[in-house]
Amino acid sequence: MTHARGFASDNSSGVHPDILQAIVNANTGHALAYGDDHYTAAAVEAFRAHLGPDVAVYFVFGGTGANVAGLSAVTRPHQAVLCSEHSHIHVDECGAPERFGGFKLLPLPAPDGKLALDLLARLLDGYAWGDAHRSQPRVLSFAEATEYGTVYTPAEIAALAALAHRHDLLVHVDGARIANAAAGLNVPLRALTTDAGVDLLSFGGTKNGMLYGEAVVFFDAALAPEMPFVRKQATQLPSKMRFVAAQFSALLAGDLWRRNAAHANAMARRLAAALDGAPGVRITQPVEANAVFAALAREHIAALQRTFDFYVWDETLDEVRWMTSFDTTPEDVDACAALIREVTT
Ligand SMILES: Cc1ncc(COP(=O)(O)O)c(C=O)c1O
Repeated sequence: MTHARGFASDNSSGVHPDILQAIVNANTGHALAYGDDHYTAAAVEAFRAHLGPDVAVYFVFGGTGANVAGLSAVTRPHQAVLCSEHSHIHVDECGAPERFGGFKLLPLPAPDGKLALDLLARLLDGYAWGDAHRSQPRVLSFAEATEYGTVYTPAEIAALAALAHRHDLLVHVDGARIANAAAGLNVPLRALTTDAGVDLLSFGGTKNGMLYGEAVVFFDAALAPEMPFVRKQATQLPSKMRFVAAQFSALLAGDLWRRNAAHANAMARRLAAALDGAPGVRITQPVEANAVFAALAREHIAALQRTFDFYVWDETLDEVRWMTSFDTTPEDVDACAALIREVTT
């Protein structure tokens, strides 16, 4: 039985055949567990080729786990992590970062998913530093691409990082979709991270064609002496790590990461273009990665959801999210757009 491809999430897609093949290829004989194997060493080298020779790479099971373990490794319970009000760490992780790390999240307004430099500067300049009544900011965290499918340019990330560093904050990027951002901007991965002053990164694989697996990357290994222990305590140390590592090697050694992401992005742009001028549909965010956000009448949402999968993003605004992935086809998009036009016109 085949399943129709919908627009609910890039997590709804299957696994890219090259990644599955890499898992099959790694499925021979024995390899030492917990990362003491040559597959893991090779995958770390693949990361270093992209991000620099000094990065420390920790493979984990999932994106929430990457955020929770990475942030917890650099933060004390009296400290705070500044983030967007729409951030995955704030909205979609069931409070896991706060529960596990003990720190406080301080969410900030971000109408297009992006943190505004001037707002952040005002907050940090006026902050009650050293006041025992107030959590002390330690990390600035933002997603690239954002939860709204928008992207920060390398210059925007560099400016945020410079501001954060002036206040002795570390910069964490939730890169569940960093490949989509880099592909959308047509820049290398290092332009959004290493070269922009990012300190730690949750690097996504699952949404870009992998079966499972993400990585926490520290750009200065000295930042996280506790990370090996935090990862284990956070239940994010994969025993058969070779199978995560082999997937990352397949994704990163060539240009599969970029091809998958660029294709997903192109499908989102195609959908937005096909809906341009549709009277009953208002695209609410710039389409810069692999998501289209749109507002439409509630009864139209219900009618469309009977035909294909997608999520309502904000009930109060009747705003929906249509998400594309590496395996979305132009035919999927055209059929979806035609249906949306038919229902909403
Ligand atoms: C911005 C962002 N960060 C992280 C994640 C990772 O989540 P999960 O724990 O489901 O892998 C997601 C998944 O939707 C996401 O959209």
